[in-house]
Amino acid sequence: MNSIVLIGFMGSGKTTLAKALKNDPAFETMTFIDVDDHIEKTEGRKISDIFKADGESYFRDIETKALKDIAGDERTKIVSCGGGVVERAENADILKAIGTVIYTDSAVTKLWDRVGNDPKRPLSRDKEAFLKLYEKRERLYRSAADVIIDTGNNDIKKCVGLIKEALGIS
Ligand code: S3P
Repeated sequence: MNSIVLIGFMGSGKTTLAKALKNDPAFETMTFIDVDDHIEKTEGRKISDIFKADGESYFRDIETKALKDIAGDERTKIVSCGGGVVERAENADILKAIGTVIYTDSAVTKLWDRVGNDPKRPLSRDKEAFLKLYEKRERLYRSAADVIIDTGNNDIKKCVGLIKEALGIS
């Protein structure tokens, strides 16, 4: 089976869904990788500190580098990406090279309710900017995705079922 890559806006449930997939017998042999965790480990500091000290552009550089590292890891895996992974056009090809790309789609109002003002998320501090960012990224997620899953209106169990159906797993 191909590796699975989860993309989507902050708060859309990528990491929760990735963990639920990992707990399903169909995917249990896959390795789980969270791109933000990978970055924090490599850098030895938190995402919020990286943004504060070196800015978003630096973060995007190391995010692309992390994706390349992960693409070079030959294990079959479930990869949960940070919400801004579609910000750099070159990342779309890296995501495709890793595996099947799944977009976790949810209404932006629900996303703000879940993660608005989260201190760990530097780009969720201002509602107006959050809404604008979502508007800009939505079509990027859609065009990068092989499969779209509505995580806003389905519980996790249902989302796992929808993914298995989309991948042709019974
Ligand atoms: C970001 C989302 C975050 C993290 C960073 C930037 C973004 O990940 O990568 O704060 O640009 O949307 P989550 O989507 O897991 O919150």
